[in-house]
Amino acid sequence: MVVEVSTAAYSRRAREYSEVLGSMAAVHPSDLQLVSKWASDVDGEIVDAGCGPGHWTNFLTEQGHAARGVDLVPEFVTYATNTFPGVSYTLGSLASLAAGTGSLGGILAWYSLIHYEPETIRIPLQEFSRALKPGGTLFVGFFEGQTVEEFAHAVTPAYRWPVDVLGAELDATGFDVVESHVRKTAGQRPVAAIVARRRDAH
Ligand SMILES: C[S@@+](CC[C@H](N)C(=O)[O-])C[C@H]1O[C@@H](n2cnc3c(N)ncnc32)[C@H](O)[C@@H]1O
Repeated sequence: MVVEVSTAAYSRRAREYSEVLGSMAAVHPSDLQLVSKWASDVDGEIVDAGCGPGHWTNFLTEQGHAARGVDLVPEFVTYATNTFPGVSYTLGSLASLAAGTGSLGGILAWYSLIHYEPETIRIPLQEFSRALKPGGTLFVGFFEGQTVEEFAHAVTPAYRWPVDVLGAELDATGFDVVESHVRKTAGQRPVAAIVARRRDAH
């Protein structure tokens, strides 16, 4: 069974989420730097997988990258399309990207894997592995923790992951971890990001 995010929960909160978090002004400067650097090394099309309000897709487009956004929640796709005209956003699942095998240069999964139950995380990772060309890279942003653990995310339950445990899942689905970053700020949930490169064989 393919487990998807609770679209109803995000549909209800999409407007509020977009207004609070759907702009680059709401992005942490370190994340902006990390994503910009990652994208500058990508060769080929980038999919913003689980794009939400679409601000990252728009940012990547403005930086000159061929980027498009995909999300499962219709309200986000509509919001992104209206807010960032000229940028491509489509309704779709991380479990089944509309992309040919080995066709993408990069995939940004910025806090979009956080709702997958741990035993199903390989479903989107395998799909990313299929869609990326060898040498293509995946950039994952997520909440970090000492163990894999569910927590009460504001919209719908989510999971925190140790970097090495998510790294092992990436390794098992055809990726080499090339970079990882953890940021701990007092009073906030620790966050992490991993860049992983698609191994050669498809
Ligand atoms: C925490 S939000 C992050 C949104 C955006 N990437 C950002 O940085 O603001 C998680 C997003 O992932 C999307 N998402 C979660 N699971 C998904 C799936 N299986 N297929 C497509 N989108 C998904 C949600 O609809 C939501 O827009």
